[in-house]
Amino acid sequence: MTTDLRSFVLGLPKAELHLHLEGTLEPELMFDLAERNHVALPYESVEKARLAYEFSDLQSFLDLYYAGCSVLVSEQDFYDLTWAYLVRAAEENIRHVEPFFDPQTHTERGVHFGTVVTGIMRALEDGTERFGITSRLIMSFLRDLSPASAAQTLEHARRYGRRIVGVGLDSAELGHPPEDFEEVFHAARDAGYRVVAHAGEEGPPEYILGALDVLGAERIDHGVRCLEDQMLTARLAMDRVPLTVCPLSNVRLKVVPAMAEHPLRRMMDAGLLVTVNSDDPAYFGGYLVENYVAAAEALGLSLKDLADLAEASFRASFLDEPTRLARSREVREYADAHGVR
Ligand code: HPA
Ligand code: ZN
Repeated sequence: MTTDLRSFVLGLPKAELHLHLEGTLEPELMFDLAERNHVALPYESVEKARLAYEFSDLQSFLDLYYAGCSVLVSEQDFYDLTWAYLVRAAEENIRHVEPFFDPQTHTERGVHFGTVVTGIMRALEDGTERFGITSRLIMSFLRDLSPASAAQTLEHARRYGRRIVGVGLDSAELGHPPEDFEEVFHAARDAGYRVVAHAGEEGPPEYILGALDVLGAERIDHGVRCLEDQMLTARLAMDRVPLTVCPLSNVRLKVVPAMAEHPLRRMMDAGLLVTVNSDDPAYFGGYLVENYVAAAEALGLSLKDLADLAEASFRASFLDEPTRLARSREVREYADAHGVR
């Protein structure tokens, strides 16, 4: 049964909508890039790095995640990082991805904004050509830095036109409510960027409301704490606001105590438009397929549930309507071919 479940998920056409490119940096590549750029790492070996990935909360993860980013220096480094993810995505039949990157993590270290974007975009274009994986790049502002720094980052992005389609908000959530970033998100919306935001991961349901009403978020990243507020849950369901849920991340960062207690199933039962994603797979022990499988095994999701989640991933994407419909149809055809309806 386990093999059947995994092979069904593997072949299922899927979109990934919550994926930090910096969070796909595997220790092997981290060590290669450290050598290439003469950067010292706080780990003795690849194995020791993996062993250090034990987290007590979001901040304890972010400390290692930002430290790992120090090896990313040249355009080729950002290309290699993105390409490694795309190779993996192709193996998992991910047809579309809307990855995040954190420009401030790099510009604060003296790496040019253009170096980062050009490396990432070149890999994304090659991914479309080589694997047929479509993509929409989203730039995330770090909410533990100042709104002025976010505004400056938006100014940088404007020079790169439509290569960046959206803005998001990530990093340490508690104590950094969405309201702090009202102005820069207003400017981003005015400039035509799509808007998403991390909210309700560690932060309270009020942060989800703030993301919707103050930032104008079209999609909520994580959002698992919405269930604590019935009115909010009803509104998210009614308005079909997508929530990009990351099961393995939530367990590893102790947002939930165990996968068996993950709210994904309850969110689906509440009529929410939920999708499954991997967040920072190099740090959380699994890519997209592993997230579907772990959630399905712990929560008793059926193959039909998994096909519904995959279909939702396209519906919740920023793809144009005809492509979204075509991809959804592919999911249905795949499910039908496996006797799932
Ligand atoms: N939450 C907030 N910020 C992040 C995350 C996350 O899961 N991953 C990378 N930056
Ligand atoms: Zn995230």
